[in-house]
Parts: sequence; structure tokens; C-alpha cells
Amino acid sequence: MAKKVLLSGIQSSGKAHIGNYFGAMRQWVEMSESYDCYIFIADYHALHSLQKPKEMKDNILNLLLDYLAVGLDPGKVTLFKQSDVSEHTELCWIFDTITTMPYLMRAHAFKDAQVKNKDIVVATFNYPMLQAADILLYSPDVVPVGQDQRQHIEIARDTALKFNNIYGDTFKIPDPLIMKDVAVIPGTDGRKMSKSYGNTIPLFAEYEEIKKIVMSIVTDSGEGIPKNVYAIHNLLRPASEILPIYKSKAGKYKELKELLIEDLERFIAPLRERRKEFEKDIPKALAILKAGGEKAKEVASKKMDEVREKVGVKVYEK
Ligand code: ADP
Ligand code: TRP
Repeated sequence: MAKKVLLSGIQSSGKAHIGNYFGAMRQWVEMSESYDCYIFIADYHALHSLQKPKEMKDNILNLLLDYLAVGLDPGKVTLFKQSDVSEHTELCWIFDTITTMPYLMRAHAFKDAQVKNKDIVVATFNYPMLQAADILLYSPDVVPVGQDQRQHIEIARDTALKFNNIYGDTFKIPDPLIMKDVAVIPGTDGRKMSKSYGNTIPLFAEYEEIKKIVMSIVTDSGEGIPKNVYAIHNLLRPASEILPIYKSKAGKYKELKELLIEDLERFIAPLRERRKEFEKDIPKALAILKAGGEKAKEVASKKMDEVREKVGVKVYEK
């Protein structure tokens, strides 16, 4: 029987953090044993908020190294970048032609941008259509993401249904996979950990950086158990292990933070070391990305050909 298909990705918009890892990446690695996986770098998505070419290039390379270091094995996973497969932007246009403006105006990201009164670029508005194309080109069964992406996956599902309704059965309807316990990883200030809030613990942080960040975690004086410290600690060790410690050291914030620093270091150090190994051979890492792009393109171009046929623009064989 053919393996089920998994697809997911992260924008190349900054440094990966432990929220990305526990919310998404860890599931990808675990599931890569049993699923046919497509994991990509959403560089065209990132372009809507990052217009610095040097930074973009660095981010792409960094995310590639992150993917390899967390254990995504190119022998099992197709690793690629979005901009290598032009079908993503092509299908996005087709979806634009069947989606209404009022529908997209309900998207959280667009509404947030509106509240901030930002000069909203068309790509921010259209972002969910590109994401729908990313997903639907590969007919995945599951899309493992954090809770913040739920609406985007729902939009992809709606878009697939709408297309199928107009043009006949073409797209498989994907399911989101959001692990309950790690749906929203809290950051150092208790809000969702996010690059855009500056409250992250980088996934490959050096020891000194971990120390500095943990020491700066906001503590409240509730029951003597610092909520934000505990929530991060709980990612690394079960409550049955750490709750008794937190209770016996209630109010001793410095000691509890020191314990978290040690546990974070124990978790991050091997990842950091693995990443350093991959860093030694950048041409090899890039060759993996390029080959992944070629493989992804084969799948995507077949689907796109079917779409061209369905919408009526295919008047001759290529
Ligand atoms: P950020 O909010 O830092 O920009 P991204 O949007 O790049 O993060 O997220 C990449 C992936 O990591 C997505 O699947 C997203 O749902 C997941 N993710 C990001 N932050 C968290 C978090 N705090 N908790 C759980 N999952 C997260
Ligand atoms: N929007 C996602 C994020 O910010 C990244 C992304 C783009 C994605 N295309 C995707 C995730 C397709 C899953 C599937 O994290």
C-alpha cells in the first residue's frame, strides 16, 4: 500500500525557536518514518515581510541547516524550497480566481494587520491562497502545524472543495494535525512564542544565550511557582518530575531558573552540535535542497497539468 503523505513548512523569516520545534518540527521527524514527507522552506511567503535579500539568503540556508539538524533525513524526506517550484505561485493565481475578497478578509493574519493599521501588501491579504497551493499540489493526508496555522489549513480545505465543486474532483482534502499538548508553546513572556513577539528561545541557542534569556523570563508572584518558567520546563520534563521540585522550591525563582537553564542546555547541546556538523559542508546541504526541489517539481507539475486541463487552458500537449 502506498504511504500516506505529509506536508508542512516554515517561512524563512528568522531564527527557528523551540516553539517551532515542539509545535511542528518534532512531529515531522517522528512521522517521517511512516509517511511520505514533503517539508519545505516557505521563502516566497517570507518575502511579504522581509525585503532584505542578504537576510533572506541567510535565513534560507539557516532553516535548511535547522531542518537537517533536527533529524529530517533527506533519504526519507523531500526537503525543498517553495521558490524552486513555480507551480506554487501559478496555482495561487488559479485559486485567486475562485476565492472572494470578503472570504479572505476574515483571515486572522489580515485582520491583525488591519488592526495595526499597517500598509497591507497584497501578499499579506493573499497569503492563505499561496499556502493553499503549497498544500494542495502534493495531495497530503496530513499537515502537522501549531494551533496558529489552523485557519490556514481550513482555508486550504475550503479552497479545495470550492475548486472540486466548480471543476470536478481534483484535490484531496487535507487534515490539519495539531498536537493538543503542544498546540501553543508559550514564550518567555507567557504569550505564544513567536519570532514577531521577540519572546523566543532559539532552537540552537548557545549556553550563554540560554542563560540570558531564561534569567529574563518574566516571573509572577502567584503561588511561588513561576508560571512562565514552569510552562517552558514542562516541555522538557513531565509534570510528575518537575512539579514536586517547583513545589519544594516555591518562590526560589533563581534556583528554578538555573534548573531550567541546565535542562535546556541538555536538550539543545546535541542539536547544536549536529547543526555544526552540517555547517561544515554547505555545498552538500544546498545540493540536498536542489535535488529536493527537482523531486517536488515532478509531483507539483503533474498536479498543475491536471489543473490546467480542468480549467480549460490546456489546448495542446506540452
Ligand atoms: P513564528 O510565529 O515564530 O513566526 P512560524 O509562523 O514560522 O512561527 O511557525 C512555523 C511552524 O511552527 C508552524 O507550524 C507554527 O504553527 C509552529 N509554531 C510557531 N510558534 C509556535 C508556538 N508558540 N507553539 C506551537 N507551534 C508553534
Ligand atoms: N504559514 C506557515 C507559517 O507561518 C508556513 C507555511 C506556508 C505552511 N505554507 C505552508 C505550513 C503549508 C504548512 C503548510 O508557519
